[in-house]
Amino acid sequence: MAARVEDDRELVYRGLQRIVVQGEDREAVLQDILSRPENQERASLPFMLYGCLRHWYYIEPRLTEFVRGKPLPVELQILLVFYLFQAFVMDSVPVYAARSEMMNRIPRKFKGLKGVLDGVFQNFLRKYPVLPEMPILPKWWESSLTKQAGSEFVLEFSSRFAQTPPVYVFSAMGSRETLHFEKYTQLDKSERNQKIQNGDVICDPASYLAAWLLKPTSDEVILDLCAAPGNKSMALLQICPTIKLTSVEIQLARAKILKDRLKDRATVVHADALEMLDSVDEGSVDAILLDAPCSAWGTALLHPEYLIHKQANQNESVLQMKLLRNAFKALRNGGRLIYSVCTFCEAETVKLGQALMTDFQGFEVNRDLVCPAPLKWISSGPGYLLLPSLEGSSVFWYMSLTKKCTGGDE
Ligand SMILES: C[S@@+](CC[C@H](N)C(=O)[O-])C[C@H]1O[C@@H](n2cnc3c(N)ncnc32)[C@H](O)[C@@H]1O
Repeated sequence: MAARVEDDRELVYRGLQRIVVQGEDREAVLQDILSRPENQERASLPFMLYGCLRHWYYIEPRLTEFVRGKPLPVELQILLVFYLFQAFVMDSVPVYAARSEMMNRIPRKFKGLKGVLDGVFQNFLRKYPVLPEMPILPKWWESSLTKQAGSEFVLEFSSRFAQTPPVYVFSAMGSRETLHFEKYTQLDKSERNQKIQNGDVICDPASYLAAWLLKPTSDEVILDLCAAPGNKSMALLQICPTIKLTSVEIQLARAKILKDRLKDRATVVHADALEMLDSVDEGSVDAILLDAPCSAWGTALLHPEYLIHKQANQNESVLQMKLLRNAFKALRNGGRLIYSVCTFCEAETVKLGQALMTDFQGFEVNRDLVCPAPLKWISSGPGYLLLPSLEGSSVFWYMSLTKKCTGGDE
């Protein structure tokens, strides 16, 4: 039994390094670990991995207080967050055991820092004897969201960080006029599979809404440009099963997941959407969903790890702008485009929309959208910022565009 617990910790520790140092996605890392049959039933693995990431922003910035403000190498930060989290939270791991295991795990090149690390570990627990109930998010994240959504919303939103989000299930009962979903506290694997087999779509309302806003209608030719893992493609097909949908994804592994989900209900293309768009006949597409890759700040409740790397990573806006411009050519006159991102980073939302409107005359922006109840958004530059205060878990930003009719090439 003791050996098993240590194995768990080894796996989580290595997973944490992959996420923090190599920038890998938590879900991919976890899936990788859990895909091994011997690990599948080990609930402590996701608990520990997710827990360390959720408390990263409380523990990591405080570490420097004990080393005269000097930043520690990232390997040592990981080691400290990992063992402090265990000392705080894991009843099965006494503090002395966490401390001694941490000391044994110090990488050889940092052996000279043994005393420093030990001091940081002990002094941290002395000064901060308990973890805050509500995990703390980085200051820059909080102030950026406060600027756009107000402090009351941010407080309420952050308080949900400690809760398990509900599972939202969309069935074909919805329509173009209303958004219909059911909410569950939990669904086990077989219940999920049953629902998926019934044709239900399980996803966050913010995600579904992007597809809903496109208002797909019968026989329309539609492109979903950044499509994996396929939630919005599934939603488009649920709203209107007779569309001619092509779903594009740049990453091979994700394109495979997409293909598995969509089967023959859509054409799945494994390609860079920018290149793929070059080969599409000009003016041949009725509507485009561009759920662009983004900084994902709005998904912090589910993906705290994204914030570790994404503060500086606002240059996604260069790719987002290119995708918007290239998509323009493929659309027919009067064709529609929904741009959505799960972030509130201004460079990828308001500023991007404003720059597009200033520098590029081809699109008209639709400012008269109505948010379907019970969701709630606020007007935000040329788009809308969805605030998951009533339902949902992610902050999203949407912009609805129509290709201006030039009397030309339809
Ligand atoms: C926000 S996720 C899309 C989520 C998806 N729309 C859904 O609802 O399930 C963005 C996706 O775009 C893909 N991507 C990034 N750059 C791309 C590009 N140039 N062409 C096509 N796909 C791209 C990423 O690999 C990622 O899977």
